[in-house]
Amino acid sequence: IYDSFELNNRVKIPCVAFGTYKAAEGKTAGVIGTAIEAGYRYFDTASFYGTEAYLKEAMENSGIPRDEFFIASKVWKDEMGYENTKKAFHATLDRLGTDYLDLYLIHWPLPEPGYTDWKALDLDTWKAMEELYKEGLIRAIGVSNFLPHHIENIWQNCEIYPAVDQIEFHPGYSQEAVLSYCQDKGIQVQAWSPLGRARLSEESLILELAEKYGVSAAQLCLRYALQRNVIPLPKSSSIERMKQNQDIFDFEITMEDMYRLATMPQTGWSGEHPDRERV
Ligand code: A2P
Repeated sequence: IYDSFELNNRVKIPCVAFGTYKAAEGKTAGVIGTAIEAGYRYFDTASFYGTEAYLKEAMENSGIPRDEFFIASKVWKDEMGYENTKKAFHATLDRLGTDYLDLYLIHWPLPEPGYTDWKALDLDTWKAMEELYKEGLIRAIGVSNFLPHHIENIWQNCEIYPAVDQIEFHPGYSQEAVLSYCQDKGIQVQAWSPLGRARLSEESLILELAEKYGVSAAQLCLRYALQRNVIPLPKSSSIERMKQNQDIFDFEITMEDMYRLATMPQTGWSGEHPDRERV
């Protein structure tokens, strides 16, 4: 059923991405190359990850045309602001060896904990991104780790609405308030750490349901994201698991089981992150 989702500007986006944060340090280009071999075309990177140059190398080695890839990157905290964002964006393009991005996100709403002037900084950053979008250098623009009040600041003051919010999301950390806010507004939610950083696979409910559906714990978690209309960004260093993580289209979690997964005890990492504090 799923192949791609459609963003609020009509751009089609694959519904599973490959995450490149901490992608096997030392052999990152190889891992990304393997992910291309395993069938991934949507790669999520960020200037902060240090993986853009490896992604460039892997894309070049693959011989696959640029327009078959969907490439997303993010502006880091110390690159925010009108001028800095434009500079950072062009540096990202250079490192990726491309002349456009499919998606560009503000990585975090606040440059540092307790920063009180974040509203103006976010808006200046957004303004630069809107201009790059209008110049045709970015196909869609969005945010990451934004809570509703951070998005509201942009929503009330922007020309182009954010297309995406990328947040920590997995069974046991569904951030329902962010999810429903975004889905009401037509903002596509994406899941970082969709496998809940591995410990989730030891939870009895996950094990019970994985067995019931005859899938792995990882596949169950990824399918959970899809059925909430959330794009998961799994990462792995093994080709078998890379393939397994895309093989999530031929089973369906029942409504009742979805509810059980959504209402598991909630433990996320970003909930305690100081950058998330309200100002
Ligand atoms: P590995 O590279 O050995 O496959 P997250 O994206 O939530 O942070 O999780 C990433 C971790 O999950 C990686 O350490 C990765 O390890 C592991 N992982 C990825 N896919 C699977 C899978 N299908 N089954 C088990 N572990 C997986």
